[in-house]
Amino acid sequence: MFGKVLGVQNKPRRSIYSLTLWTGLTFFFVAASTYFLSQTRPTVDYFHGREPKSEPSASHQNPLLTNEGIERFALDHGYPRLGESANFTSLRQLCDSTKWQRHVYFTCTHNLGGLMNVRNMVLNCVRYAIAAGASGLVMPQIEARDPTVLKHLKTGEYQKMSYLFDDVWFKKVMKENCGQLKLLDTFEDITNSGYATMPDLINIQALMGQPPGNRQGRLRNKKPWEFRPRFDKLVQSRSQKPSWRTPVIVRLDDKALFSFPPSFDSPELARNFGFILEFRLDLSALSNVIVNRARKTLNDRTGNDPYVGLHLRSEADAGKYWASWDLLANTTISVATKNDIKLIYVASGDTDGVAKLAKKAADLGIKVLNKWSVLYADEKEFLQPFRFDQQAIVDYLALMRSDRFIGSGQSSFSSHLILRRELLASISSSEEKGVEPESTPRDQLVGPGRLGYWDMDWP
Ligand SMILES: *[C@@H]1O[C@H](CO)[C@@H](O)[C@H](O)[C@H]1NC(C)=O
Ligand SMILES: *[C@@H]1O[C@H](CO)[C@@H](O)[C@H](O)[C@H]1NC(C)=O
Repeated sequence: MFGKVLGVQNKPRRSIYSLTLWTGLTFFFVAASTYFLSQTRPTVDYFHGREPKSEPSASHQNPLLTNEGIERFALDHGYPRLGESANFTSLRQLCDSTKWQRHVYFTCTHNLGGLMNVRNMVLNCVRYAIAAGASGLVMPQIEARDPTVLKHLKTGEYQKMSYLFDDVWFKKVMKENCGQLKLLDTFEDITNSGYATMPDLINIQALMGQPPGNRQGRLRNKKPWEFRPRFDKLVQSRSQKPSWRTPVIVRLDDKALFSFPPSFDSPELARNFGFILEFRLDLSALSNVIVNRARKTLNDRTGNDPYVGLHLRSEADAGKYWASWDLLANTTISVATKNDIKLIYVASGDTDGVAKLAKKAADLGIKVLNKWSVLYADEKEFLQPFRFDQQAIVDYLALMRSDRFIGSGQSSFSSHLILRRELLASISSSEEKGVEPESTPRDQLVGPGRLGYWDMDWP
């Protein structure tokens, strides 16, 4: 049949010709289809850092695995972004009143750990770059953790910011509100980067003359107002002064976690600064789809079923003294029962724990959902290859929008969600006047010793 189509004789005189012809044609089609498939695969932007995919099924083309398909999906479901209602006036005021330096650049590459830790470290790095009055900032990167052993954080696998965040959003917000800090895509974009002088990796604790804190730092900067004079002294102490010919490139180490106290800034800035980061649009869109679909579980027509969000932080790598499965499950079920809520959305890597919870809840007429139970096949195929921390974006936003929230006191992910939810609740209750204060707290962190870093993370 191909022979006819291509105008090749049907009866070649010798079989060797036929063999050569068919071998050639086979190569041609394999090459052509490989090329075609590579063209229909989405570009690096959306898929940076994805694992190699297994063979797609032959009969069905998943639109979410094409460039156009995922772009349309993101446009349809990704908006509005939460940060659109943020007020960056105070950021602009900060940048307008900062004394900026010439030829001093900041890089922050060693942002590692779980999703919320990475977020905090990136925000701190940007905040310190502003405090330093740096001339420019190389786009932050993320050190991705080992996908098979999640507690291995230092892998040397550096991903672009778009691995987790919306880099387009970040560039836009920073350009509009803090244009003095020029953003550079790569290190090489710094003029004369090849002649730069680079102090050792900067450790904030050492620079501030504080004890080193633990593995990731986790030590609040006690005198943030001293950062600038100490930083300037460090730069000035170098034999080669910053110049056009010899710029100074400062690299922050991996211990900036929870280092910058938001209370150092005005309340307006502290409340809004975190919105310079938004999570990547495609996964945000997927999360919105989950929430809207979850809310139709019981009443398809109204689509406003309330649900309790649970961060079931009972995975194997949870600390010995963290809230147990028992405590998290009991609290969640009792909150659902008390408030007559029939749905629980659970985020967890503990699959047995989720199954156990579903069984326990079912006895009380409560349904347990998670991202895999809510998503359709195409969406699951899209989400599945993403790494653990990328998939956490979907859960983060679904928990953020839940009606009640239960988390683990020792988890930075849970703790950050409480901060963010309190901020959003305070915004919406100040908009609707006359809302009665609730008698029971809307959100709870359970387990021993909640992390005491309320002034160590940006809402
Ligand atoms: C934004 O913040 C500034 C300063 O913090 C304030 O003066 C202004 O009224 C705010 N704008 C809105 C729309 O809330
Ligand atoms: C959870 O509830 C069960 C009974 O419903 C009880 O036996 C158990 O002790 C509770 N666990 C915790 C940690 O509260």
